[in-house]
Amino acid sequence: MIDPRGLDRLDISLGQIRRIIRDFELEMERGLSGQKSSLKMIPTYVSRPTGKEIGKFIALDLGGTHFRVLELTLKGAGRALEPKIMKFALAKKHITGSAEMFFGFIADCVKVFLKKYKLESADELDLGFTFSFPVKQAGLAGGSLVCWTKDFNVRGVIGNDVVELLRAALAKKDIRNVKIAALANDTVGTLVAKSYRDRNCDVGVIIGTGTNACYPEARLGGMIINVEWGDFDKLKLTAYDRKLDKKSDNPGRQIMEKAVSGMYLGRIASLVVKDLLGLKPKLKTEDMSAIEGDHSAGLAKTASALKKVGIAKCTSEERRQVKNICETVSGRGARISAACIAAIIKRMDTNLSRRHTVAIDGSVYEKHPTFAKNMKSCLKEIFGSKSNRIKITLAKDGSGRGAAIIAAVAASR
Ligand code: BGC
Repeated sequence: MIDPRGLDRLDISLGQIRRIIRDFELEMERGLSGQKSSLKMIPTYVSRPTGKEIGKFIALDLGGTHFRVLELTLKGAGRALEPKIMKFALAKKHITGSAEMFFGFIADCVKVFLKKYKLESADELDLGFTFSFPVKQAGLAGGSLVCWTKDFNVRGVIGNDVVELLRAALAKKDIRNVKIAALANDTVGTLVAKSYRDRNCDVGVIIGTGTNACYPEARLGGMIINVEWGDFDKLKLTAYDRKLDKKSDNPGRQIMEKAVSGMYLGRIASLVVKDLLGLKPKLKTEDMSAIEGDHSAGLAKTASALKKVGIAKCTSEERRQVKNICETVSGRGARISAACIAAIIKRMDTNLSRRHTVAIDGSVYEKHPTFAKNMKSCLKEIFGSKSNRIKITLAKDGSGRGAAIIAAVAASR
């Protein structure tokens, strides 16, 4: 029989949500004023676009299991043509090998893209480089990697300028007409892409393999700050979180990411299932989506999802409980994310007197059946009827499009 206390420990009351908001606000302030904080609050040297930028730009979008190259033509007045996109898979050997091999592979992909779209001998192309890891930026087109996240571990990159590494790799492959005009985090790309059309957009969020957010900071004249919220460590942890953290590649780091993002939700749910039901599935976050979206009477989809992850036989009661566990784990992630969004909005607008659009991209937000809904209902609990001033919207492929727009802003300077 399920131990209800086991699951209770993962529930987050409104009181706890308010505490998270307060702690997050304090950590943001500490990070901005150079005090010790789990929030890096990195200045990005990017401001929101005017919507008037025009021209043809290319972008590299790197930060998850897939890497994309795209070309975007901006028409001004907030309009753009549908981008040309090529997607490449990053193998384990690329993300855990040497810097030379990693950036060499990326440069090869750029070459394939230029060839396919007959851009090899085009005039100089400005490129926006989305690199979705914590980077201490020295300016708009340069910055050194602070640490890897999301199980990436390429040797020889930490402490080095990732733009320089890419530039050298492009030169080595004889790609001469591409100029790296800007470096951006994926949250910044997402915010910029949405605010090109929507002037109320002032929060960019990613909830995918990893998680993070950014917003324009009034104290810095509206410059966008990359919060790096995945490293936020003022959350009440359970024994499951501690176990997951201990076994991870980066113990003690990315504590919030480990409670929220797609890389980890399945691992937590598996630990809870093992503890409470004695079953040992190896759930991925996609499996949780299938299970939580299963509304059939006998939970047939849950049975096949469990079969896929090593549980060939289970009772219908066990399936019901597994579904309940998945809902609790993903629901917690959604509520934590909503609390942190609320803290960012409160920093910009204490009384919620304006409208705010929150642009969100990432597989968990996009594909999980209830994550988005749970986030919205948590914001309603926090702000009451004023929550209708907050529009949360999917910004599909925002990070790549945004990088091209950032390159446009840089080029127009
Ligand atoms: C990285 C962030 C990134 C986020 C979403 C995190 O692991 O530290 O820089 O924005 O993942 O991709």
